[in-house]
Amino acid sequence: MQDPHRFVNDLDAEAHEKLIARLESRARDPIFSKLLDKYLNALDLKPATDVLEIGCGTGVVLRSLVRKFKITGKAYGIDQCASFIDAATDLIEVERLSDRATFQVGDVHNIEFPDETFDVVIAHTLISHVTEPLKVLSEISRVLKKGGVAVIFDGDYTSLTYGYPDHSFGRKMDAALASCTFNNPLIMRDLPRLFGDFGLEMIDAWGDAVVEIGKGSYFKTFADTYVPYVRDAQLFAPQAVDIWQDEQRKAMEDGEFFAACNYYSYIVRQVE
Ligand SMILES: C[S@@+](CC[C@H](N)C(=O)[O-])C[C@H]1O[C@@H](n2cnc3c(N)ncnc32)[C@H](O)[C@@H]1O
Repeated sequence: MQDPHRFVNDLDAEAHEKLIARLESRARDPIFSKLLDKYLNALDLKPATDVLEIGCGTGVVLRSLVRKFKITGKAYGIDQCASFIDAATDLIEVERLSDRATFQVGDVHNIEFPDETFDVVIAHTLISHVTEPLKVLSEISRVLKKGGVAVIFDGDYTSLTYGYPDHSFGRKMDAALASCTFNNPLIMRDLPRLFGDFGLEMIDAWGDAVVEIGKGSYFKTFADTYVPYVRDAQLFAPQAVDIWQDEQRKAMEDGEFFAACNYYSYIVRQVE
């Protein structure tokens, strides 16, 4: 089982296109904007702020941030996947914001910026995918200026669940979706006890239940994108996975869909 975002550089161009489409369609979903706006509003940044988004994908979060706060400081997005960085560079150009942010390939375990460079670091649905979350926390702390803040936003993926009449198989599919999609599905519940080890003080934190009942949009594209990875992992007979997916599609058509997951936002300050 391989987290496609962790091992994105092992995937082919077609898989990259699908993941790019998923990141962009997720960003257009009102659920995504609501969760993003909530922490951006809490940050209330000055234009002269220096910002880094780690694991920026196609750059949706950084585009939103530089637009909202009219950022004039340094704004960088880094991601390990060159196709994602190319997409991010094109998309910010389309929005005529390319003078406000720069995207470059990089590994978040070894961020290529000097110590104490940024006022703000954002990790939006990154930490659940990385190989070594603790190394990433240490890098976040290192590149933050003293007093700078980081936002770590992600899901707690044992709470990821889809309605399915066969509860026993439904729970197995939920677990398979979490383990095939995320290297660290439970990391968000660990972070409050880990921040202090890296000179990071939690200054705000909250959770949001993302729930779709009747219609499916956010969880539709999630299933469309990641169920193929469950199928490839051969945990179940392929027909069982197909029946599960058909049932989800039918539930959406009939207005009987149910899916949910808890997401958490942590705002931490560099205190060392
Ligand atoms: C779910 S995507 C989130 C993208 C973006 N933050 C967003 O919310 O649209 C996770 C991203 O983390 C990136 N990533 C995972 N491990 C990484 C690493 N070690 N270094 C850099 N990027 C990494 C993946 O390439 C992918 O773009």
